[in-house]
Amino acid sequence: MKVALLSLLSEQEKEFIPPWVLRERLHLTWEEISETVLRLRLDGYTIEGGHEKGYCLSRRPDLLLPTEVLPLLRTETLGRNYVYLPTVGSTNDLAKQLARTGAVNGTLIAAEAQTGGRGRLGRAWASPRSSGIWMSLILRPELPPTELPKLTLTAAVGVARAIGIVADLPTGIKWPNDILADGKKVCGILTEAAVSDGKTDFAVVGIGINVNTEQADFTAELREKATSLKEVLGRPVSRSLLLAATVGELESLLNQLYADNFAAIRAEWCRRTVSLGQVVQVAAPTGGFTGRAVAIAPDGALIVSREDGSEIRVAAGEVL
Ligand code: BTN
Repeated sequence: MKVALLSLLSEQEKEFIPPWVLRERLHLTWEEISETVLRLRLDGYTIEGGHEKGYCLSRRPDLLLPTEVLPLLRTETLGRNYVYLPTVGSTNDLAKQLARTGAVNGTLIAAEAQTGGRGRLGRAWASPRSSGIWMSLILRPELPPTELPKLTLTAAVGVARAIGIVADLPTGIKWPNDILADGKKVCGILTEAAVSDGKTDFAVVGIGINVNTEQADFTAELREKATSLKEVLGRPVSRSLLLAATVGELESLLNQLYADNFAAIRAEWCRRTVSLGQVVQVAAPTGGFTGRAVAIAPDGALIVSREDGSEIRVAAGEVL
């Protein structure tokens, strides 16, 4: 009912739609309409009017409510089950919990704020209220655990594409999955998986995008390395449009990945990366070293060439 009423009110935003039009178009009683208006107002919509003039939508909230996001989705699977929370510890933690209790493939979890947002390598992820996209997708991919790094690279390409489409901003990907704008990080991706008997039960792809985050929201240490789309562009970006575009791009890329066409995704990743050809400092689980990033292996590992001519394959770790 909420979506139908909103879509009718949106046809003529800021104009009153008379009661009889609302009743006829929605096939609802006036009581049902007024009750829905009340619930929308509680969600944060500004709707003026009453039983004499009808209703007029004068302001939509800048929130990732289902009523804002679902009408924008053009996907078949991803996001069709949408779990939205004003506050959560970590969307990845909730996603893993839901996945363990049977949540369907493609379930999307998004929150306005995270109180315990997690980054890679055990770091915290700043997730201030309503300033970014803090989301996790539950996937049940037909991929063996060894091929899961492909998911993260695929997600990075999807986010980079979506930022290009919605914000018209070129970005670079830093191996394995940081998205940079103006040389600073605007997005991080944390993929986690549950594996049993050598098979992937599920994967959770957690994506954090600093959309309209202000510098003051970052810690002093982060300020040097992190930025937001708003800061780079000098104007805010619609979070709901970016969320819907990200999920849309991801669905088409995942279909490509499952159709055994990772090569094309890898090629796009290579076109978008800022890591290849650079001298990089690698922090790998086995220790740190310096070398030149020369290639991405078919499974997504970074190939680093050292001064002595040897090549090291880095499957997990970070480029500093
Ligand atoms: C990184 O270290 O670069 C990865 C950051 C991933 C952050 C996102 S925000 C949504 C999801 N929930 C989390 O707790 N983390 C990921």
